Amino acid sequence: MGKTIIVSNRLPISLDYKDGKPDFKTSAGGLATGLGSIFEEADNIWIGWPGNYVEDPEQRAEIFLELHEHKMAPVFLTQEDIEEFYEGFSNETLWPAFHYFTQYIAYERRFWEAYVRVNEKFCEAILKKADPDDTIWVHDYQLLLLPKMLRDKLPNATIAFFQHIPFPSYEIIRMLPWRRPILEGMCGADLIGFHTYDDMRHFLSSVGRILGLSNESGYIQAENRLINVDAFPMGIDYTKYSESADSETTMAVVEKFKKQLGSQKLLLSIDRLDYSKGIPQRLKAFDQLFKLYPEYKEKVSLIMVVVPSRDTVKEYRELKEEIDTLVGRINSAYSTLNWVPVHYFYRAFPFEELSAFYKMSNIGLVTPLRDGMNLVCKEFVASKTDQQGVLILSEMAGASKELQDAILVNPNNMDKVTEALHMALNMSEEEQKTRLVSMQETIKRYDIHKWVKVFMDRLKVVKDKQEEFQ
Ligand code: G6P
Repeated sequence: MGKTIIVSNRLPISLDYKDGKPDFKTSAGGLATGLGSIFEEADNIWIGWPGNYVEDPEQRAEIFLELHEHKMAPVFLTQEDIEEFYEGFSNETLWPAFHYFTQYIAYERRFWEAYVRVNEKFCEAILKKADPDDTIWVHDYQLLLLPKMLRDKLPNATIAFFQHIPFPSYEIIRMLPWRRPILEGMCGADLIGFHTYDDMRHFLSSVGRILGLSNESGYIQAENRLINVDAFPMGIDYTKYSESADSETTMAVVEKFKKQLGSQKLLLSIDRLDYSKGIPQRLKAFDQLFKLYPEYKEKVSLIMVVVPSRDTVKEYRELKEEIDTLVGRINSAYSTLNWVPVHYFYRAFPFEELSAFYKMSNIGLVTPLRDGMNLVCKEFVASKTDQQGVLILSEMAGASKELQDAILVNPNNMDKVTEALHMALNMSEEEQKTRLVSMQETIKRYDIHKWVKVFMDRLKVVKDKQEEFQ
């Protein structure tokens, strides 16, 4: 049994420079926590991009050594790679296509060529570390070609792929000039995982129609190799959020914030800056709440955290401006000397403060237009240890399949979102509790550790089945 190599475009770290020296912070993100149990073991490693442009060979060497200490290995991207592979094909072609924003899709040959080139770069970096019997787990849409590239070089390796964003209908996939190599790339894996059953169904239908490969209960017979495709809805580190909600540090932050805010009811919205998150639509529904129910003025505020992301891409910059304008309009229309309707933050917050936001908010407002899973809604629910609070959740988020006890809304239906807000603001304590308890049970049972275990166990089953068939 060989080692396990985890591969993702971005390594779970943030890299800054202090006095000319690299300063690393390991990320406490969900994936990093979940995979911690794997990659801390034995000589397992994580390979990916450190997230910055680094040209100086000396600096590269320093980063290499530092990452080595953390059991990680870097793939350095040139400025061209960043522009054409990361911003370009990944985030201007695949991201909008897979989130059904077809009007934003860039069809640029130059971006595609960079995508192939960088996937090859990842492949080379992995081959330097990999042995023939290793398990390689590739993550997400930036690396769709990698499973096949690896398979060509390491025919007997165990290769898995998990997609963290939606997989769209065949009607979208067929629009991409590169649909065939993309699907072939993914089919280099032994196990292909998605968050939802619908994503899996869409993938299987594209593979059937474009590659001509049929499946039986999620098993595809490709040449002489069996590939399994299934849904594995990703969870969160439940204990981390529920324990933090009751910790002294969080309570102290809540006290401090509450003193500043007063006794109004709080709605919470937390996202990366992204057009798929439906932030302007959410703000418009919030605005409408005061138009339809003026009695909420001075009684309800929205805490809106937007974490900066991909702001070198045009659509993201424009979105930022649109949000700024909408917030300005709402605040200037309704603010009083001692009340502001939207508390808007365009920055990331440390975990303790996020945890305080979750703990003190009455309503979690999670209304993406499209989202692979969405973990914010799960974090909100896990933080409600007093079982008071209401989740309003978009039907377009993968998480809605599991969290049927949220108030589910179509985020494009502004009237329904406003109505959901009104309903949530008036929900009895008893009903809040019933809904939360049920959602908490679900999220606790299928947490991030379970997700990793179920996925890895399945991978073993697939490999055993492949042997039987040979
Ligand atoms: C989504 C994707 C990830 C990505 C993250 C942050 O969650 O599924 O693959 O890493 O967004 O985006 P960024 O472009 O900053 O890596």
